[in-house]
Amino acid sequence: MALSQLSLTDFRNLKSTTLDFDPRLNLINGANGSGKTSLLETIFVLCQGRSFRTHQLKQCIQYGKSGFLLFGRFEGFKAGLAKNSKKLEIRIDGETIKRRSELVKRAPINILNADIFQLIEGAPQKRRAFLDWCLFHVEPSYAEHWRKFQHALKQRNRLLKTRKDFKLLDYWDQYLLDPSLEISSMRREYSEAVENILSKELGKILSGFSLEIGYQQGWPGDQELADALSGHREGDIRRGFTSVGIHRDDIVMTSDGRKVDEVLSRGQSKRLCLAMLLAALKLVNKTRETRIILLIDDLHSELDQEAQNLIYDQLLDMDLQLFISNIDNVSPRSLRVKEFKLFHVEHGTIKPQNFS
Ligand SMILES: Nc1ncnc2c1ncn2[C@@H]1O[C@H](COP(=O)(O)OP(=O)(O)O)[C@@H](O)[C@H]1O
Ligand SMILES: [Mg+2]
Repeated sequence: MALSQLSLTDFRNLKSTTLDFDPRLNLINGANGSGKTSLLETIFVLCQGRSFRTHQLKQCIQYGKSGFLLFGRFEGFKAGLAKNSKKLEIRIDGETIKRRSELVKRAPINILNADIFQLIEGAPQKRRAFLDWCLFHVEPSYAEHWRKFQHALKQRNRLLKTRKDFKLLDYWDQYLLDPSLEISSMRREYSEAVENILSKELGKILSGFSLEIGYQQGWPGDQELADALSGHREGDIRRGFTSVGIHRDDIVMTSDGRKVDEVLSRGQSKRLCLAMLLAALKLVNKTRETRIILLIDDLHSELDQEAQNLIYDQLLDMDLQLFISNIDNVSPRSLRVKEFKLFHVEHGTIKPQNFS
């Protein structure tokens, strides 16, 4: 779902303004510290109700102001977001919504910045989040399973921590089981789907190295989850938290049977991370007939020209609305596009640019 217009008020260092965007390609330039990442952040926050830079959304409130406002016109709906130091209010077509997920499912958005390179060496959480982004947008039941799982895990951990009412553990183990198994089987299935897309459609970016992607469940491979939960119960009581389950899942990437972080060069690792993201975008694009918004921040400093060209070739073939910062060494002409919008940011003031 493309974003056609954005109004922003008192967000980070940005001067309050209203901007009209191109449905396919928007380029943002400006000096360091001018506010480019902040502009991308407004779009992310508008679509997600959270930021990619901070867990505390109130950090985005302009210094000295009491709150920020964002308003966006998408193809098909309008979204408004008001954040002050106490609360966040989200509206869709004028109606306040209760769950953030109602907003998030409307307009799929992802961000491509240097964080993507954590996909290989970072904590398993990064890889789970990567896969879950696909699940959330493709599987209608995922959000509800996830909510139930989170609730049950929280209750179970609370019992383990407070060391009271151990009788209730049976109840929460049971409650935990269904959503866990659903999510586990989705993650298994989508690990395979991503592997397929990588080998069939993105071989050029991987430039010759073979890749296998395996889902690794967060409990011993030879056990049922129910047995693992009861088998680890005593240990969990001692530790005070749940040590097995889908919150311990991982995605294991290997090349000819060896872990990728041991065999790939830095350049190959980067390409692999990018290919993973492209595969996720393709997967969601195929299933959901809606345009995905992709923010690309400061990528040019991380990639050589050839890798950039390969990536942009792929991106421009997909159904995406792109917002790209700092693209000064790639001319729009080499991007093969005639229509795009260009914005220049200077000390927080965003100006649409004319070009010839
Ligand atoms: N809450 C805030 N209020 C006002 N200014 C902020 C706030 N948070 C960060 N800034 C400032 O915003 C400026 C722009 O940052 P950023 O968007 O990262 O710039 P760029 O991506 O163009 O390098 C920085 O100088 C930063 O100090
Ligand atoms: Mg920046």
